[in-house]
Amino acid sequence: PPALESRDLGRWRIEVVEESGSTNADVAERFRSGDREGLVLVAEHQTAGRGRLGREWVSPPRASLTVSFLLEPDVPAERWTWLPLLTGVAAARAVRRSADVAADLKWPNDVLVAGAKLGGILLERVEQDGRAAAVVGIGLNVHQAQDDLPVPGATSLDLVAGPGAVDRASLLTALVEELSAAYDEWRGGEDPRAAYLGLCVTPGHQVTVSVPGGEVVGEATDVDAQGRLVVLTEQGEQALGAGDVVHVRPR
Ligand code: BTN
Repeated sequence: PPALESRDLGRWRIEVVEESGSTNADVAERFRSGDREGLVLVAEHQTAGRGRLGREWVSPPRASLTVSFLLEPDVPAERWTWLPLLTGVAAARAVRRSADVAADLKWPNDVLVAGAKLGGILLERVEQDGRAAAVVGIGLNVHQAQDDLPVPGATSLDLVAGPGAVDRASLLTALVEELSAAYDEWRGGEDPRAAYLGLCVTPGHQVTVSVPGGEVVGEATDVDAQGRLVVLTEQGEQALGAGDVVHVRPR
């Protein structure tokens, strides 16, 4: 696949490096040493890519789009819970725009195509000298063949749309534009909930949610005003925050 190139896109400075341990780790470090909102770091290859909940994120060189954004949202801390979810919305929209595939979301922010995982999002909060930043990392599988995918239930754009149907450069452009738009709306005070519910397939399904110390079993009914998953159990309703949850699986 062709290499990606560094360039500016609006107020975003897209910087492409051949190799990084983890673009999330590198962007956090760059924030600590003075970089500000607008940095978008893309690696052709990650050697120690991080997934959610301490998992690893593995992909062969140039097979996926692995990118991290440095954001410094000027919104109250209690609204930050929406940031990972609205990033999911932007990622699903970018995939829909660049490929003719109906990407949607599993709560909180796995990007799915026909129930298989195409990508994921890892958001990390960093503080330095009283300033807070969000490192928003997105990994999307693009050119992987089935054998390149380390986990069962994963897929790539080559597998769902045909080999070479999507190129990473246009997917990256779409992703920056979609995240930029969703981020601005949210910062401007808009509620991302309706857009999120339009793409999230989890409500309406029976789920088993692993939480520290046990499991919550019931029907996912909604996503509440804070972005938590509402599950109707035999004991009543429970609202689960993305940080508490190990995983959601259909029963
Ligand atoms: C998940 O577990 O689903 C989240 C995966 C997030 C992977 C991306 S790739 C770019 C960024 N850098 C990392 O080390 N992780 C994220």
